[in-house]
Amino acid sequence: MKVLAIESSCDETAAAVVEDGRTAHSSVVASQVSLHARHGGVVPELASREHLRAIGPVVEEALASANCTLDDIDAVAATRGPGLAGSLLVGYSFGKALAYSRELPFLGVNHLEGHIYANWLVEGPEPRFPALALIVSGGHTDLVFMRGYGHYERLGGTRDDAAGEAFDKVGRLLGLPFPGGPHISRVALEGGRSKLQLPRAWMHGSRDFSFSGLKTAALHAVRANTHSVADIAWEFQESVVDVLTGKTTKLARELGAKEVLMAGGVAANGRLREEMARRSPVPVRVPPPSLCTDNAAMIGAAAGYRLDRGERSSWDEDIFSTNDWAAVSR
Ligand code: KG4
Ligand code: ZN
Repeated sequence: MKVLAIESSCDETAAAVVEDGRTAHSSVVASQVSLHARHGGVVPELASREHLRAIGPVVEEALASANCTLDDIDAVAATRGPGLAGSLLVGYSFGKALAYSRELPFLGVNHLEGHIYANWLVEGPEPRFPALALIVSGGHTDLVFMRGYGHYERLGGTRDDAAGEAFDKVGRLLGLPFPGGPHISRVALEGGRSKLQLPRAWMHGSRDFSFSGLKTAALHAVRANTHSVADIAWEFQESVVDVLTGKTTKLARELGAKEVLMAGGVAANGRLREEMARRSPVPVRVPPPSLCTDNAAMIGAAAGYRLDRGERSSWDEDIFSTNDWAAVSR
């Protein structure tokens, strides 16, 4: 089954053609980063207008680079949320209208479930259950236990900033361009261990995360002006990576998970990938960086399994239909 998938939850307009939930024949991502960079963050109004401009050409390009026409497509899927309402509306409405006009099945997909399913696009055998997923993105930091397809149990998450949000805010403090994540990891390569010690919020006994104290400590370090930008970036990254890998690997051991699945934009971080693989008691699966950050192939992968089981979204469902983990595990 070939699915045309659309993603427009934040500042990337994306479309992909995915077969049977495992093979991406194309994955096109039109980034709006340069549009938002001068504002230091995503401006929702600008984002939805840009999605509107890009959606048609991006879908056409996804079909063309998969050597397909709409005649080859068996179903359409689009991100239903969570995300920016005005942005989601563009991709969701476009996908729904396309499916309706072509009399194809349509499915709305949870964005976080999509991030996890990027791991199904990795070549080789499918992930084994039970699996522990760590979703780390600009909006989320969640530890999710997966006993099987469609079974999700959220065991912990951030109590304040998401990991990616912390990267972006500290990036701004360090005078780096938006989004801070990739820039911090690049600058950190020039830095190393110094006298600077930033805190690790272990919150003993809890499976939750907190990054706001680290952010404040980074602010003080910048103001003190005694360490280079590279050394602050290095130590900040080490702190985030230390806590993310420490908590995830401990939980994987406790739960007897067969695999750790990494997902979301921050999973593109080289140090996080390296440390998780080094410390985990079980195999770690992580998508290539281009499938960690927002893309539509991951939406097509998640949709593949649900469509295969006969799931469909009704025409009156919209982006405000429930998006929490309970709804995902329906
Ligand atoms: O999953 P994603 O593309 O969008 C959301 O759903 O939020 O994640 C974006 C986040 C941003 O905060 C960005 O700074 C971060 O992922 N990110 C990184 C790296 N690449 C992207 N953070 C750390 N290191 C990276 N290499
Ligand atoms: Zn995302």
